[in-house]
Amino acid sequence: MTCYVVVGGFFGDEGKGKIVAYLALNSNANAAVRVGSINAGHTVTISNKEVKLRIVPSAFINNYTKLYIAAGANINPSVFLKEVELTNTYGRIWIDYNTSIIDEEHIERDRFSQYLKEKIGTTGSGVGPAIEDRVKRIAKTAKEMDELRPFITDVTQEVNMMIDDGGTVIVEGTQGTYLSLYHGTYPYVTSRDTTASGICSEAGIGPKKIDEVIVVFKSFVTRVGGGPLEDELSEEEAMKRGWLEIATVTGRKRRSAPFNFNLAKRSVMINSATQIALTKLDSIFPETRGLRLYDDLSLNAKKFIEEIENTCKVPVTIIGTGPDIYDTIDRRKELKLI
Ligand code: IMP
Ligand code: MG
Repeated sequence: MTCYVVVGGFFGDEGKGKIVAYLALNSNANAAVRVGSINAGHTVTISNKEVKLRIVPSAFINNYTKLYIAAGANINPSVFLKEVELTNTYGRIWIDYNTSIIDEEHIERDRFSQYLKEKIGTTGSGVGPAIEDRVKRIAKTAKEMDELRPFITDVTQEVNMMIDDGGTVIVEGTQGTYLSLYHGTYPYVTSRDTTASGICSEAGIGPKKIDEVIVVFKSFVTRVGGGPLEDELSEEEAMKRGWLEIATVTGRKRRSAPFNFNLAKRSVMINSATQIALTKLDSIFPETRGLRLYDDLSLNAKKFIEEIENTCKVPVTIIGTGPDIYDTIDRRKELKLI
């Protein structure tokens, strides 16, 4: 009976997919809403099976959960239809009639723009140009697309009704706070506001309906594309530490840096976070791999978590210790939050 917003705390790729999937199973969510677009890659791993998603909500893992694409989202119908097939979610996934459409021309405008491709280093998925057209009010919307007809509904209305009826709803943000068009490292940002407020706005859920804002931090910072990254490591050093990641959507190497406490603190402020989810703890403390109990963590790992809590003044409630959904420490019961 809770409405959760899950938001990235850094530059995306914090592991939101895993956290949302865990929450969907753990809370047996009635509904999950995906905002944003197909530039975001969310990975869900269960029993060594990895599913990479660009638009279907990560909560698909719970067969009971109704899945929604928000009015403020932008979708590419072919990517959407392929993923519905991959996740076998036909019949329990819907798109808002106002969701806007990315077409081939948007992808070309993204990929052939020297500025977007070279300087900003976009994912080339056409999202920025599609949003440009939406702002110009010439973009197509989902209700105009024949192939999307079986999926169209008033998502905003349905989700608000579920919240009002006391359902558990998860709103899945994409990318991270510092890729926000307004609060990020402009112009090295994505084309929308990625913060909790922006997420609610895209989903059509007013701020007073949100119970918990969970900001997700990875135990180190990564970013892909251009833009500043404080204390950035060389590729060699990143490799040595086991931090060299490959981007889900573009296959590019991610840049990396140690956990940034100042960015974390500011992110908690901007998102009015009530909880922190910390992922990949095992990437900086290998001895924590696969642990599921807070008490079993090493002293150093606990110290790191306490430092985050002391800096951010918000509890670290969910901790990822490996890629699987259940490689997770959940402190919410112990902290009397559920
Ligand atoms: P765009 O969103 O494709 O226009 O790309 C703008 C910037 O946001 C580039 O630096 C991308 O690498 C970055 N970006 C977009 N989506 C993601 C994501 O899901 N994870 C990480 N970075 C992203
Ligand atoms: Mg990603």
